[in-house]
Amino acid sequence: MSNRESNHDVNKLILHRWSPRAMSGEVITKDELMTLFDAARWAQSSYNNQPWRFAYAFRETPVWATFFNLLVPFNQDWCKNAAVLIVASSKKDFDFNGKPSRTHSFDAGAALQNLALQGYEMNLVIHGMEGFDYDKAKQELLLPDGYAIEAMFAVGKPGDKYGLPKELQEREEPSWRNEIATFAFEGGFAELAKK
Ligand SMILES: Cc1cc2nc3c(=O)[nH]c(=O)nc-3n(C[C@H](O)[C@H](O)[C@H](O)COP(=O)(O)O)c2cc1C
Repeated sequence: MSNRESNHDVNKLILHRWSPRAMSGEVITKDELMTLFDAARWAQSSYNNQPWRFAYAFRETPVWATFFNLLVPFNQDWCKNAAVLIVASSKKDFDFNGKPSRTHSFDAGAALQNLALQGYEMNLVIHGMEGFDYDKAKQELLLPDGYAIEAMFAVGKPGDKYGLPKELQEREEPSWRNEIATFAFEGGFAELAKK
């Protein structure tokens, strides 16, 4: 449990999920990983198109280096102790009519939040990343046209924060959030123009 507090009766799983960086280097099982993807599977999506697609690598396999080398050095510093790296992508067209979907990224985000919540429930670290080379990911992981690279995720067993680089040790705690009034508006968005 984190020290987060909310003014409303938010589900504890949602409130306390956060993204640590400290991982122990222990492996996770294939079954644990499939449980995460199963959670992703149940996300809502426009027309139930389920546009999320994932490529993954376990650290002890030869393909790990390909995934790891996509990351910027800042992320490599702490991801070296991850058990699995995931590259999330999404299909840009609907299956049923081949027309462009406006919400493929949005839908993939919903699946990734399911995955993150499931991982928190399983006492795993799940940490999203945009600090990687998107073009190289598309090329090296052979993503066909018609799909977009969305984000990477590190998955691992929790570790000791003192194993992190010094500046990251200080940041290793749950973050806070903007108040509801700053992002939810009754009747329209006119408030936003006043900011
Ligand atoms: C799509 C996405 C990309 C992110 N990119 C990075 C990243 O490249 N490196 C990093 O250390 N954290 C990254 N984060 C983690 C965010 O900084 C973190 O989720 C945010 O500060 C909120 O904190 P919390 O997840 O602990 O609640 C990313 C998160 C998401 C969802």
